[in-house]
Amino acid sequence: MASPRSSRRAQPSRLRDEQATAAGKRAAAEAAAELVAPGMRLGLGTGTTVAFLLPVLARRGVAGLVCVATSPATESAARELGLELRGLDEVGELDLAIDGADQVEPSGWLIKGGGAAHTREKIVAHAARRFVVIVSGDKVIERLSPPVPLELMRFGLGHTLRELHPARVREGVPLSPDGGVIADYFGPIGEPRSLAARLSATAGVVEHGLFAPEIVSEILIGEGDGVNRRAGARTDPLAGDRPAPALNEGGEAARRG
Ligand code: 5RP
Repeated sequence: MASPRSSRRAQPSRLRDEQATAAGKRAAAEAAAELVAPGMRLGLGTGTTVAFLLPVLARRGVAGLVCVATSPATESAARELGLELRGLDEVGELDLAIDGADQVEPSGWLIKGGGAAHTREKIVAHAARRFVVIVSGDKVIERLSPPVPLELMRFGLGHTLRELHPARVREGVPLSPDGGVIADYFGPIGEPRSLAARLSATAGVVEHGLFAPEIVSEILIGEGDGVNRRAGARTDPLAGDRPAPALNEGGEAARRG
């Protein structure tokens, strides 16, 4: 009979990678759950990483916690777990928002929207005093690469897609809950700030999935059982007692003075 060690070695590498990714997502989500305090108004992102967060929050039974979901999927999962949900305009400002990401660049730029919820996610991130991103280590890459998710107006869709060339509607994905068409931009990214400005300035673009470093308070990166913390460029009014390391030019975590 194979020893546990030799059977682990025989495991297909893809399966091992998937398990490592899931462990990283879980570790980051669990670390983020620790940031949630009684009475908070909390924004909940969308995706498989956030799916690890919801049951941890529900188990903790945080008194007076009120959540705002960024998608119908998150809303129904959270409701089933007994978390209290409200609309964003009902609660106004959020204390904290926690969400995943598809790509994280050393400079702190993110790509989001793999789950097509980037418009609501960006609004919720802006509405929160603190925005914490939770990812597995494989999401941290040297340079952002296409596609960049888009949400587009239905009116004049063909024209908007031509303006954005190369871009196309994402297959098999329904309209967003707000009636927008989910599409992706496949052109070069180059300098993310320039592309973000160009996408935002294109008529017919509701929102794009490039998130600037100054939206992000902190990035929790789950690797193995541990979590690395990196500061985003946003001033974090709640972090006071435990400053996260800032990113230096090379994207390594550097100590704040
Ligand atoms: C949804 C998102 C997600 O946060 C992003 O796609 C990451 O998803 P996952 O946690 O499943 O890897 O932006 O719009």
